[in-house]
Amino acid sequence: MEEKIVVTGGKPLQGKIKVSNAKNAVLPILIASLLGDGESKILDVPHLTDVDTTCSVLQHLGQEVARQNGHIMIRTVEPTSFEAPYQYVRRMRASFLLLGPLLARYGRAKIPLPGGCAIGSRPINLHLKGLEALGAKVNLEHGHVEANCRRLKGAQIYLDFPSVGATENLMMAASLAKGQTIIENAAEEPEIVDLANYLNAMGARVKGAGTPIIKIEGVKELLGTTHTPIPDRIEAGSYMVAAAATKSDLTIENVIAEHLKPVISKLKEMGVQVDEHESSLRIRPGEEELKAVDIKTLPYPGFPTDMQAQMMALNCICKGTGVVTETVFENRFMHVDELKRMGAKIKVESRSAIIEGVKNLSGAPVKATDLRAGAALIIAALSTEASTEIGALEHIDRGYDNIVGKLQEVGASIERIG
Ligand code: UD1
Repeated sequence: MEEKIVVTGGKPLQGKIKVSNAKNAVLPILIASLLGDGESKILDVPHLTDVDTTCSVLQHLGQEVARQNGHIMIRTVEPTSFEAPYQYVRRMRASFLLLGPLLARYGRAKIPLPGGCAIGSRPINLHLKGLEALGAKVNLEHGHVEANCRRLKGAQIYLDFPSVGATENLMMAASLAKGQTIIENAAEEPEIVDLANYLNAMGARVKGAGTPIIKIEGVKELLGTTHTPIPDRIEAGSYMVAAAATKSDLTIENVIAEHLKPVISKLKEMGVQVDEHESSLRIRPGEEELKAVDIKTLPYPGFPTDMQAQMMALNCICKGTGVVTETVFENRFMHVDELKRMGAKIKVESRSAIIEGVKNLSGAPVKATDLRAGAALIIAALSTEASTEIGALEHIDRGYDNIVGKLQEVGASIERIG
């Protein structure tokens, strides 16, 4: 039988929930360890299938990977292979980040094209354009990207769009290139800053991460180091929205409030009370019924596309009408049909979804169509007394560490069956 999450909601959560460290910081950092000589230790890594996939790819390349008490140790050796198998890249697009480090350190790499995925076509043109500017020869053949180079050379690169993955790939590659690289219109996400901090701890000279202009002075070699990744702002945001949807008084620990500004601001606009503390946030119901808000996803520091589905679920049970506009990915509304199965009133017009709030959603068998859609369905299910069955859990397991256990601890009636 297919595994399912069964939720019977309609009651407030209470207590404290601890957020794990960020998937989107951990994956590039694990891959960046390839750039360094010796051993890297990445501490407090979340238990996620995307992390397992990344470790498997590194092992496939011949690297020594060990896991202990939630930490991951990687000892780099001369790779036995320079090719990432399709079985991994298909499962996790972030495998494409191997291209930069392999090229920079060993001068060659072969990675299958990631292809389409549920939320859009997700091209890699910006990664390739940047690596070519650094001197790589890139060939696209038989569904693979094959790239070769002598030592990469620093260059000035302008990204047409501030792509997170392209910025990371180029930052890693430029760290071992000869001379200076300037990435303009770079992504500014906190995970970029975390990767830059890790690279700098390895001996790289990266400046300006977190701004649109990143300057990298290439060095000859990097050394393994120890690093603790930043907390997961999207996991935190998901629990904040779950608290709002269940009218709960919930404390969320291991957060950097600064990273959650756009989410905090929208929740406050809806009427949720958010108290910011040193490394935690307390979410409390406001005096009045929550009101629907308009949301437009944008690159950081704008509203994160990875929180769009969860906020849409919340909008579904707010008073009034809210318009959610997705500008980062072209097809990220797969959760709309699932939410409609639960009684939501949503109309999609091009890149916007118009949501007319209803008093209550009803339970229904639904399916997680992608990772964040899965979280949105759990939130919707927690908001209603009816029982909801959520399938396709492989998406949720990619990015939420022990979501069922964490929600049970704060009193949710949620279990995993099958
Ligand atoms: C990362 C995150 C993902 C998040 C996304 C946007 C990881 C592992 N994943 O994905 O959770 O939703 O950032 O915040 O960190 N694009 C191009 N050409 C390229 C690269 C991207 O056109 O070469 C387009 C994409 O199709 C998409 C947009 O740029 O429409 C944003 O993509 P990007 O920022 O690269 O996202 P990812 O790094 O794949």
